[in-house]
Amino acid sequence: MTALTPISQFVTDGFTLTRSQQSPRLLTLTFEEKTVSAFLEAVAEWPIQALEYKSMLRFRVAKLLDDLCNNTLQPLLVSMLVDRSTGGLLVTPEGLDRVEQADEMVKFATAVAHCFGRSNFDAMSGQYYARFVVQNVDNSDSYLRQPHRVMELHNDGTFVEQDTDYVLMMKIDEQNMEGGNSLLLHLDDWKDLDRFFSHPMARREMRWSSPPSKNVGHDVYHSVFNIDAEGRPVMSYIDQFVQPRDFEEGNWLTEMSESLESSEARLSVPVPVGSFLLINNHFWLHGRDRFTPHPDLRRELMRQRGYFTHKQTLANPKHT
Ligand SMILES: [Fe+2]
Repeated sequence: MTALTPISQFVTDGFTLTRSQQSPRLLTLTFEEKTVSAFLEAVAEWPIQALEYKSMLRFRVAKLLDDLCNNTLQPLLVSMLVDRSTGGLLVTPEGLDRVEQADEMVKFATAVAHCFGRSNFDAMSGQYYARFVVQNVDNSDSYLRQPHRVMELHNDGTFVEQDTDYVLMMKIDEQNMEGGNSLLLHLDDWKDLDRFFSHPMARREMRWSSPPSKNVGHDVYHSVFNIDAEGRPVMSYIDQFVQPRDFEEGNWLTEMSESLESSEARLSVPVPVGSFLLINNHFWLHGRDRFTPHPDLRRELMRQRGYFTHKQTLANPKHT
């Protein structure tokens, strides 16, 4: 197990940083209400559409938030997200917790993400972020919006060519929801990691293709495992979109899926409305637990996925 970075060394201004109840690897970053309201005031001149149309403004809102935190936020995020011992945060902007504030939530999450990265174009929404609703009835073509079953542990970006270094998942709304916690697994806590990582199949190039709703339109090829700049295992895997070539691949993948899903180190994390998870996508897997059916169930989520931009974070793994 990798040694945990002490968090007391970080100076905090306008926010607090602690370890989560679920795991010492998952940190909680809470922005004080006065920081959040000062930020919203500072960015009030730009509606969300301005951030959609002008990419550069996403970095300006990031700077405004970092300035409000006495420029301690950016270095903290840059170091935390590549720190193998953590690499995961549950972020809460206090006072942003009603669905009517959805645009403000997107602005705040955009500011946090653009302190250390740039969010990729999301082909599902045609924007740099995607908002989507989960309801009781669903007829989509993947498990993304289907409430009554587990969405298994996976990495994002497995079927696109863009680097997907981070994933940000925000809860915008939740009505009549029971269950549905976010599921997380840090690779170094998975006891079967060595068994699967050392298997010859781990580095075999496999085919990944997505259903029509993802608007990707072509297959990509890469292995399930790779190594980062320091030789540590990283993953790019999702059970629904890998297309095993033969009997051996299909059965090895199924065995790995069963091991992941039964891992005792899997975390179940409730994400309150207005909060978001921010994880390093190379060594954290994520999923979602099942919900209890309810006729008036409604959940709205927002996601951003992107690549690290800061020079300190550039020594990160690249999947080929
Ligand atoms: Fe995902």
